Amino acid sequence: MFDLAGLTTLKLPFKAKSLIRLTSIENVCVSMQQLGSIPRLVVGGGSNLVILEPEFDGIVLRPEIQYYDIKESGNDVYLEVGAGHPWHQLVMKTLDAGWFGLENLALIPGWMGAAPIQNIGAYGVELKDHCHRVKLYDFEEQSIIELSVPELKFGYRHSVFKEIPDRFLVLTVTLRLSKHATPRVCYGEISEELERQGLDAEKPHDIAKVVISIRQSKLPDPDITPNVGSFFKNPVVRPEVADRLLEEFPEMPTYGSGEYTKIAAGWLIDRLGLKGQKIGGFAVNDRQALVITNDGTGTADELRALVALILSSVKATYGLSLAIEPTQLGQLN
Ligand code: EPU
Repeated sequence: MFDLAGLTTLKLPFKAKSLIRLTSIENVCVSMQQLGSIPRLVVGGGSNLVILEPEFDGIVLRPEIQYYDIKESGNDVYLEVGAGHPWHQLVMKTLDAGWFGLENLALIPGWMGAAPIQNIGAYGVELKDHCHRVKLYDFEEQSIIELSVPELKFGYRHSVFKEIPDRFLVLTVTLRLSKHATPRVCYGEISEELERQGLDAEKPHDIAKVVISIRQSKLPDPDITPNVGSFFKNPVVRPEVADRLLEEFPEMPTYGSGEYTKIAAGWLIDRLGLKGQKIGGFAVNDRQALVITNDGTGTADELRALVALILSSVKATYGLSLAIEPTQLGQLN
């Protein structure tokens, strides 16, 4: 067995039978046809993956594809990027090239290939806003296919990959960017922070700078403190459910109007006094309660116990069931 704990940012114990590095699209087709029915797990940057099975009796696939192709059409830029490209580096590279759109998504950890899986999102922008299509390896048909945006079924932290989890391997993602900046600074702190730092809301580089500083002040760096970012999704409820809760908790942050209302799960957990709560090596982060950190010694059972405590406390006080955000190997509850 190979020790692969270092491949994930949560650093839970993880061994697998073998690891296959996929470095090109051609390489994927040849290697995958030989796999047969052996269980497989795709691990890119490993920053949104929770390993609850310390010994995986299968093969870990690491999509390190470095493809990069640019097509311009008027003010639009169509950028096809290999699954192995680190996301934050890509954001900075596009801004330096004068191609805009990804500035609010700066400093998100992980690789390109994982971005469509959970439809990464931050500060009012989601991948879906700039995704044009995704090239995939289809394990069932043993062939390469492309999915367009409607076929990808993007939603809040959701995509077709969540509905059919083990069928596809992302090879490349084509992003649609623009040579014209369209600044999006409506999300809470962004405009306040731009003003505080004396930066320009019209400049995408300045927006990225502010996003980076907000993230650095709120979220623990996964390279230093093991974590997977938000551990839970913000619950999306009918407005009447949110209104009922707001009567009891008037200061509860909510977003959106219309058919559904999103509630800030970090606030729900924070208000229960759970920040800093520890079980073994795991703790609820004391700056952002949606994040669970590992001091490097944590076990899967300790994580299960802390998650169970958070879920039962939230359910008991607010009547809401939080959903786990990261991908899991094995059972969390
Ligand atoms: N809040 C608290 N206490 C906390 C955490 C949050 O009171 O411990 C309050 C904040 O003061 C704010 C509200 O809750 O009023 C929302 O907090 P924040 O703006 O930090 O955003 P979030 O809803 O907690 C989501 C994403 C983050 C993303 C931020 C910014 C999810 C599950 N998480 O967090 O994504 O960076 O918005 O857009 O949607 C991730 O997915 O890993 C991630 C970090």
